[in-house]
Amino acid sequence: MNLKELVGIEAAKFVKDGMTVGLGTGSTAYYLVKELGRRVNEEGLKITGVVTSSKTEEQAKELGIPLKAIDEVDSVDLTIDGADEISADFQGIKGGGAALLFEKVVATYSKDCIWIVDESKMVDKLGKFPLPVEVVPFGGHNLFRLFEAKGYRPTWRKTEADELLTTDGGHYIIDLHLEVIEDPRALAKELDDYVGVVEHGLFIDMISRAIVGTPEGPKILE
Ligand code: 5RP
Repeated sequence: MNLKELVGIEAAKFVKDGMTVGLGTGSTAYYLVKELGRRVNEEGLKITGVVTSSKTEEQAKELGIPLKAIDEVDSVDLTIDGADEISADFQGIKGGGAALLFEKVVATYSKDCIWIVDESKMVDKLGKFPLPVEVVPFGGHNLFRLFEAKGYRPTWRKTEADELLTTDGGHYIIDLHLEVIEDPRALAKELDDYVGVVEHGLFIDMISRAIVGTPEGPKILE
């Protein structure tokens, strides 16, 4: 079993009958959704899923997990999602799978959030992983030039066909190659203030627990 599968299955144990569950996006969250699908079908687990992307929606529907849209629920009991980096003080970067906006919306309405990662994602300081910034297409190139001028080393997120990637929300993504983020909170605030930035991949104070896959087994950090 690979480490992503290990933590996906471990995290599914936190899901109980009757819960509304935020279903994350990415190759790690895939295993969580797969395991929840198994429990729904084989054990009669009763949950309502709230998806964070069209990709996860497709998988959850195939597995027959009952779903509601985020706007059909007042809150989500527990969201389980992957992450690209988690720092020692439990802040994170997400959005490697381009779903950061919907992931952050679902996390915001969640009473509890767990991130599932393999141990390579645990870092001392955030920033080695390029920080995604989701921008509206109108004026997006001006934001790109502004980030260049600030020395944030931006690149456009592209598709395999080398076109600008469009997110589920209809926006573009600019990745900032910062190497190290000394003050994630301050940078989050700065990015929040740019007109045309819809969201960014800095998730500040949003999780209570991380399940980290190691060769010795899953480690729960809280
Ligand atoms: C998608 C995300 C993912 O959760 C993150 O990129 C981790 O993905 P993976 O589990 O495939 O490494 O934020 O927007």
